[in-house]
Amino acid sequence: MPVITCIEDLRQLARKRVPRAFYDYADSGSYTECTYRANTDDLAAIKLRQRVAVNVDNRSTKSTLLGQEVSMPVAIAPTGLAGMQWADGEVLGAQAAEQFGIPFTLSTMSICSIEDVAAATTKPFWFQLYVMRDREFIASLIQRAKAAKCSALVLTLDLQILGQRHKDLKNGMTVPLRPTVGNLLDLASKPAWALRMLGSRRKTFGNLAGYVKDADGINSLARWTARQFDPTLSWKDVEWIKQQWGGKLIMKGILDPEDARIAASCGADAIVVSNHGGRQLDGALSSIAALPAIVEAVGDKTEVLFDGGVRSGQDVLKALALGARGAMIGRAFLYGLGAMGRPGVDAALGIIQRELDVSMALTGTRTIEEIGPHVLVRH
Ligand code: FNR
Repeated sequence: MPVITCIEDLRQLARKRVPRAFYDYADSGSYTECTYRANTDDLAAIKLRQRVAVNVDNRSTKSTLLGQEVSMPVAIAPTGLAGMQWADGEVLGAQAAEQFGIPFTLSTMSICSIEDVAAATTKPFWFQLYVMRDREFIASLIQRAKAAKCSALVLTLDLQILGQRHKDLKNGMTVPLRPTVGNLLDLASKPAWALRMLGSRRKTFGNLAGYVKDADGINSLARWTARQFDPTLSWKDVEWIKQQWGGKLIMKGILDPEDARIAASCGADAIVVSNHGGRQLDGALSSIAALPAIVEAVGDKTEVLFDGGVRSGQDVLKALALGARGAMIGRAFLYGLGAMGRPGVDAALGIIQRELDVSMALTGTRTIEEIGPHVLVRH
């Protein structure tokens, strides 16, 4: 077993163990992938300010997100098909997050259902909602999230139209996988993955199966989904969703200060500055480049969370220094999951927390509240 010291180790292991179509689905951005790359490149270009001879004993990474105590200001981002990186992936991720003391967000497009995750956990998780044309179905999803006692609804606003990811088309990425020669040969080289998958009863979109009217099989379900995302989504609908839900509402996918202002005025309890991990508008700003102007616009009105390119605790520290209240991790979680299942997610969370803690110490910081622009060079 290789020694795992960083998220990159987990990525490399996941690439070996997860069927190529699903690995590529995670490790790709839309079109030329320039925004996908910019998310990590722009974070790497920010320099932390080394400070010495400051008493940094008794440090803590504890904080709060939407009033909820967290062991570090990080949440697991919603990712579709996590249960295809590793059998029962969403349940494993939610259990790891619960034990670690951070929020887990379940995607609408998950393999394990809201009810599966609720049954396997004891603390509330967050549920992410995509808005589809069938409003009755959306209302029923919201009711299910309420019944499962989810503590926040994460409304994703940046994917009404799907950005194209070339690899998904080339790989025949469907659920279940298209049985091309390439996919079959690849699966044959990953028998452990296939065996675990055979042993799981969760193999399709858990939140949709059985609830969708005209779905007679898994394939038609996937087509249904592509047809169902509603391009007419407007701020009026957001208000309707807020009323239906009645609880804490997080609006995800905000990259522009103007949209951030509207989101705040619509009563967002938090927003997530995000470009969907570089999977939607290729050519958009990196999330970290977009963050400061958004914090300036609405930082005093709503909690500003951040995601896109976070692969280390240093990245979390940089985002907090630029005004984010917390960071979400998508791929860092998926790589851990695909590499080793539950222990891989535990490893990913532990790595990020230790890196955050050490980097805080080396910038002369003891608590999350103390983090500010002064920990960066050139602020
Ligand atoms: C996502 N993301 C996402 N977002 C969302 O709101 N609902 C979803 O179902 C998904 N699905 C999804 C699948 C995969 C494979 C990835 C990589 C991402 C976006 C996700 O929540 C988050 O915004 C990004 O992953 C953040 O970027 P990093 O941390 O992956 O760089």
